[in-house]
Amino acid sequence: MKDQPAEQIDQLRRQIEGHNYSYYVLDDPQIPDAEYDRLFRQLQQLEAEHPELVRPDSPTQRVGAAPLAKFAEVVHARPMLSLNNAFDEAEMADFDRRARERLASPGPLVYLAEPKLDGLAINLRYEQGRLVQAATRGDGSSGEDVTQNIRTLASIPLRLLGQGWPEVLEVRGEVFMPRAAFERLNQQAREQGSKGFANPRNAAAGSLRQLDPRITANRALAFYAYGLGEVSGERLADSQSASLARLRDWGLPISPEQRRVEGLEGCLAYYRQMGERRDGLDYDIDGVVFKLDALDQQEWLGQISRAPRWALAFKFPAQEALTRLLGVDFQVGRTGALTPVARLEPVLVGGVTVSNATLHNMDEVRRKDICIGDQVIVRRAGDVIPEVVRALPDSRPVDAQVIERPSQCPVCGSDVVQAEGEAVARCSGGLYCSAQRKEALKHFASRKAMDIEGLGDRLIDQLVEQGLVQNPAELYGLQAEQLVGLERMGRKSADKLLAALARSRDTRLERFLFALGIREVGESTARNLARHFGDLAPLIAASEEELLQISDIGPIVARHIHSFFRQGHNQEVIQALLEAGISWPKQEPTRPERQPLAGQTFVITGTLSRPREQIKAELLALGAKVSGSLSKKTHYLIAGSEAGSKLAKAQALGVQVIDEAELERLKTEAAGLQ
Ligand code: IVH
Repeated sequence: MKDQPAEQIDQLRRQIEGHNYSYYVLDDPQIPDAEYDRLFRQLQQLEAEHPELVRPDSPTQRVGAAPLAKFAEVVHARPMLSLNNAFDEAEMADFDRRARERLASPGPLVYLAEPKLDGLAINLRYEQGRLVQAATRGDGSSGEDVTQNIRTLASIPLRLLGQGWPEVLEVRGEVFMPRAAFERLNQQAREQGSKGFANPRNAAAGSLRQLDPRITANRALAFYAYGLGEVSGERLADSQSASLARLRDWGLPISPEQRRVEGLEGCLAYYRQMGERRDGLDYDIDGVVFKLDALDQQEWLGQISRAPRWALAFKFPAQEALTRLLGVDFQVGRTGALTPVARLEPVLVGGVTVSNATLHNMDEVRRKDICIGDQVIVRRAGDVIPEVVRALPDSRPVDAQVIERPSQCPVCGSDVVQAEGEAVARCSGGLYCSAQRKEALKHFASRKAMDIEGLGDRLIDQLVEQGLVQNPAELYGLQAEQLVGLERMGRKSADKLLAALARSRDTRLERFLFALGIREVGESTARNLARHFGDLAPLIAASEEELLQISDIGPIVARHIHSFFRQGHNQEVIQALLEAGISWPKQEPTRPERQPLAGQTFVITGTLSRPREQIKAELLALGAKVSGSLSKKTHYLIAGSEAGSKLAKAQALGVQVIDEAELERLKTEAAGLQ
């Protein structure tokens, strides 16, 4: 007999919460994303059929609240403190010495060390295990109520897992934006002609302080817990580390970099180690934080003004420096994009000598008013390429020179062209340009693409310069004799490289698609394409319309993909790669299980209350098609406010026009037909 809906719903919620825990807290996903999506849709469906069973802490209800007019004020039950800073080892040593003296400790103290995240502090209040309020730090005594925005972060549990949590539990931690998400967000902003955020911290703050939670939901914000506010009843444990371990068991993510260290020596070693690892992390950190681990010791030391005596932030040295711009070179990328690169008087930035830095593109150069000869500020952030932040025009020398973009490609001499509305100029030489060939090969061989071990940048440069390889397929025809004799290439390394090439033939479709270097097709789009089509042939045959049905693919990307597969030289290279033995396991194309709207075509126009992508995704999940343009074959036009020419056209074609409310009705009706 089938379970009761209430039980089924409860079971699905628990399953989904469990998978969130594996994914966000343990960093060890148990099921593929597609399977997770399936569970999620199943829950949505059941809840749609039984609206009386929908609860506010269901995973489907993270985005639900209407936009606010303004944030309410929250007075913190316990003040949110700040940290004292140390900027060098002497200050760190002072801190440790004072703590030992105050505690009259004969031996070294034990500290809990963790990175200092560059985001914003948040207080999460759980009552009876349910998230009831989230607030920003504000001035430490009171902050803003951002509950509905915090609820959209999938890594923050709406109800605590396990058991034994106190009736009132306030968890404190940092909300931050990982670098990749920050880059993506700024890329989107640039495409839409706006300025974007200066750094991930501003982006995190800007994303959380949105009156409309749907905007926050679309920003990939992360969270790590690092402390406690009000907690009812007994202490959770006797130490900072054990308290955090309990939070982790209840489903709250804590930093995987957290360590218990002993004495000043242990602190300094941790600091140096994080300094080295800093660039490799997925997010920005600006130092490390040390806290006495024993809570008795914390209590004994107490606080002065607004900072505890038992904790210290040891900051990394500034990552900016002043130097002079000596000249500008133009580098040619994989897609021909010309990037102005600053040649600088060498300068130490955060311990690394920098003599080149990106100037991004000519629009940026103009906007920042930078000239050759200027004094400029260079910044190094994480593992990204150093950049010129700004010039100091006040000290501009009289012979300063304006930076001009070349009209011919500095590598191959082809014309440089700039498409209307685009910030970048490109070399028109395509694969005739050796710079573009080199970059295409580097991308093909890279770790997330075909992952060809030992085929580094220097080697690819040589292969192209010596005329040994023109395109990726020719890599697979290389012979050991051709390789031996290249710089730093003996017989042994040549054999190793050939073995790596042979290994790379067994791949996955998504890697292969990413490796092809189709414009705007990154890892995640490649994955979506692979999932949707299951194999290469149906993808090659797909129309732009069909590509548009896939989540995250808009008209520009669809056009790039479609035209890529229609170019003769691309077809030849793909054919040659397949003949060279590249293969992948075939997979079943994904089809939503329930397709009540199969065969129905929708077009969306005007301003709607939710992002179009979201509406599109829901329709696709129900099997509908969503197209960018109207025709007689369109079944419905979903019209928001200020719908323009499409509305008139739909009326002329006799296409049924519906608004959002009618769409909801249609979806529920369709779901009910199952
Ligand atoms: S502890 C006593 N731990 O730094 C409790 N703060 O300068 C004070 N921060 O407002 C906070 N990472 O926004 C703590 N691992 C960490 C942190 C951290 C980042 C931020 C937090 C705080 C600010 C204080």
